[in-house]
Amino acid sequence: MSQNTVTKLLSEYQPFPFDLEMVRLDFQLDPKATQVRARISMRPLRAAAPLELDGEGLVLRKISVDGRVLARTEYSQSDTGLVIHAAALPAQPFMLETEVEIAPASNTALEGLYMSKGMYCTQCEAEGFRKITYYPDRPDVMARFHVTVSGAGPVLLSNGNPVVQEAGRAEWLDPWPKPAYLFALVAGDLVAHSGSFTTMSGRAVALNIWVRAGDETRCGFALEALKRSMTWDEQVYGREYDLDIFNIVAVDDFNMGAMENKGLNIFNSKWVLASPETATDGDYERIEGIIAHEYFHNWTGNRITCRDWFQLCLKEGLTVYRDQNFTADMRLGPVKRIEDVMALRARQFREDRGPLAHPPRPDNYKEINNFYTATVYEKGAEIVGMLRHLVGEEGYRAALDLYFERHDGQACTIEDWLQVFEDSSGRDLRQFKRWYTDAGTPRLTITDSFKNGTYTLDFEQKTVPTPGQDDKPPRHIPIAVGLLSPQGRDLIETTILEMTEARQSFVFEGLAERPVPSILRGFSAPVELDFAPEAAPDLAFLLAHDSDPFNRWDAGGRLALQTVVAMAQGGAVDPSYSAAIGALLKDGAADPAFSALCLHLPAQDQIAQALHEAGKSPDPEAIYQARETLAQALAMAHEAALSELYEAMAVTGPYRPDPEPAGRRSLRLATLSLLSRIDGGARARTLFDAADNMTESLAALGLCVSAGVGVGVGEAALAQFRARWQGDRLVMDKWFNTQLIASKPDQALSRAQSLVQDPLYDWKNPNRFRSLMAGFSANHAGFHRQDGEGYRFYADWLLRLDPLNPQVAARMSTAFETWARYDLQRQSLMRAQLMRIAQTEGLSRDLSEMTARMLG
Ligand code: PHE
Ligand code: ZN
Repeated sequence: MSQNTVTKLLSEYQPFPFDLEMVRLDFQLDPKATQVRARISMRPLRAAAPLELDGEGLVLRKISVDGRVLARTEYSQSDTGLVIHAAALPAQPFMLETEVEIAPASNTALEGLYMSKGMYCTQCEAEGFRKITYYPDRPDVMARFHVTVSGAGPVLLSNGNPVVQEAGRAEWLDPWPKPAYLFALVAGDLVAHSGSFTTMSGRAVALNIWVRAGDETRCGFALEALKRSMTWDEQVYGREYDLDIFNIVAVDDFNMGAMENKGLNIFNSKWVLASPETATDGDYERIEGIIAHEYFHNWTGNRITCRDWFQLCLKEGLTVYRDQNFTADMRLGPVKRIEDVMALRARQFREDRGPLAHPPRPDNYKEINNFYTATVYEKGAEIVGMLRHLVGEEGYRAALDLYFERHDGQACTIEDWLQVFEDSSGRDLRQFKRWYTDAGTPRLTITDSFKNGTYTLDFEQKTVPTPGQDDKPPRHIPIAVGLLSPQGRDLIETTILEMTEARQSFVFEGLAERPVPSILRGFSAPVELDFAPEAAPDLAFLLAHDSDPFNRWDAGGRLALQTVVAMAQGGAVDPSYSAAIGALLKDGAADPAFSALCLHLPAQDQIAQALHEAGKSPDPEAIYQARETLAQALAMAHEAALSELYEAMAVTGPYRPDPEPAGRRSLRLATLSLLSRIDGGARARTLFDAADNMTESLAALGLCVSAGVGVGVGEAALAQFRARWQGDRLVMDKWFNTQLIASKPDQALSRAQSLVQDPLYDWKNPNRFRSLMAGFSANHAGFHRQDGEGYRFYADWLLRLDPLNPQVAARMSTAFETWARYDLQRQSLMRAQLMRIAQTEGLSRDLSEMTARMLG
């Protein structure tokens, strides 16, 4: 086994035997030969400990201790680091000095110091700092950083507050001790969109969003979102910003969404830049949410960080939870909750059911980059939400106050986190902890009975085995329940039932008649619900009457799923579903954004999963057809109401990304999507020509492609869009992505094959690669074509990207995680591609861990 395949274990954690007081870094930037000089003051905590430093791809020029250059025999070097033997180190505090050379211009993995369109930029989370200098690159080693940069510019940025700013040289001092993964440096020709913020204690903070010239006109929304985030964190969590300056930089080449480096957030430009012509309503909402997420990390992540990477969800779960609540407060709370649950089910439930299932706090990994997952992030957030249900509103605030008070400046664990909840609420959370340590989504089966005014709900919970975890003891599950009268009136206030046993009954007394239960209101726990046949709820009734908006929407979704699953097996449209949609379209009181969500048909991937669970092997072509037939039937049955709404929801006046007009547009586009199934794309084509904003323009473009009669409508719209936007990288990403999602399944592969020939397909740019490849794999029936050519095409591209950018290649490989759901032929075709990848010579640690896990 090579170094590359070592498994890291939570159980092997050892504290670092040295304290780092101060880190002085001096960068002389050069694309091919950047010099990095590091002076680190160290204090030994244990006698005779060797000093282990991580380092990868560094050319060591010099190494000394207290000014004495080390002899070659005093340390050992490998391709992952350097160990200074204990005998070479003083017992007292000492100064370690190193000089290394690195080549940012040839760094295609975009981890460490790299270049993007002439600009220098860093990405250090999780283990990128070791590609910059020799260092104990682990989150529990915290130090203050003093950074000097020269050799490029004119703009030179790092963490903390500026100390010296002169032409060609800058010094930055970060007064807050931090782990190396929060280090950042940016240099290049940038311009700022600036503003300021006064904190609750009256301190002024300079705010800057740094972009390439020309982009500064698209920063206004992000800057205002930052101010709203700063205000919200003060008001809701009592957390104030702690430096004189807060910088955000937008870069075009970035592996992830954004990064919370202390005082110097670095963003994928996609999640900063916005103008009405180029960004959709969805983009605006995401930008606001991601700006908030990175800002909130300043307290949950930076001031309190993680002891080791197994604890990643300590910072990510909590910070996602905070950004979700922020967006819910800024926009329509119930609509945001529905969107979050849709994403959780589509990504995290899918992950939890397959070969990549892992606990929110994993206990082993080979490559930590593979654990930035929906389970760590989104399920991590759900767990925080459950804790809040268990301790209540005030209990939650008390726990968080204690967390900040007790752990500020520390690197913590999930145990520390749960302890503050136990200490502040007096509750025993030992069983609850299983949410962090156990993988898999529990399934609740519900039965009920009514007798002499007493209504009983019986729950049974089961979690199926996941890789490496066969035994699934019961979890502590907060289940929010309401009871409705047959007229649709709430009979009780929403109540949290706490389930802790494998089977448990809950009794409600003194009821005049049998109530209709509304279970798991607001999606109070990340579980799946199964109703025993005799307890099957009247979904149309709930869709019409439930006072809990989440459960109203969910009832509609369940009804739609039942219908389309039956249709994929030869059944007909369920008239009660169609009638329920008819009622919804006439419900003038419903919020447009909410109605729009109710009109969305289940995704093909979700239908495939439902068929698999029903013991059928999903036929992607039949799923596609069933969904189309259902959409068409709804459009025909409700054409008048739909076109009336389509007209009524038109938004007049200049574009604003606010929730109210955005909600109207989303309902308008949902009706358009159905109507396009019967008008050959005529309305979509008209809207495409008339639209003055990207939201409508892009949706109309997709519908021209998917619904356009003949090839003419779609191709003409695509060509027109390309001609207009070819100079805009973010918009062109949408062009690549949308047409693949919208293609007829039998055309998706040929379209993808011709798009990779497009001169604008810059596959080394992660956004461009993702927009094409994720667009293709999202075309469910196109990706899963029977001959396996979709799988082969996709695997070819993963293999091509892997040597350059393993992190992105590995993340994208999850398109194959559902292989076990399909028929034997597709299974073997998918496995064959996974095997071909796994056996490739020189495969990255990232992609080899992913393929090995998927192959099981
Ligand atoms: N920590 C970042 C976030 O959640 C995500 C990230 C991880 C970015 C790794 C880059 C690399 O906001
Ligand atoms: Zn985060």
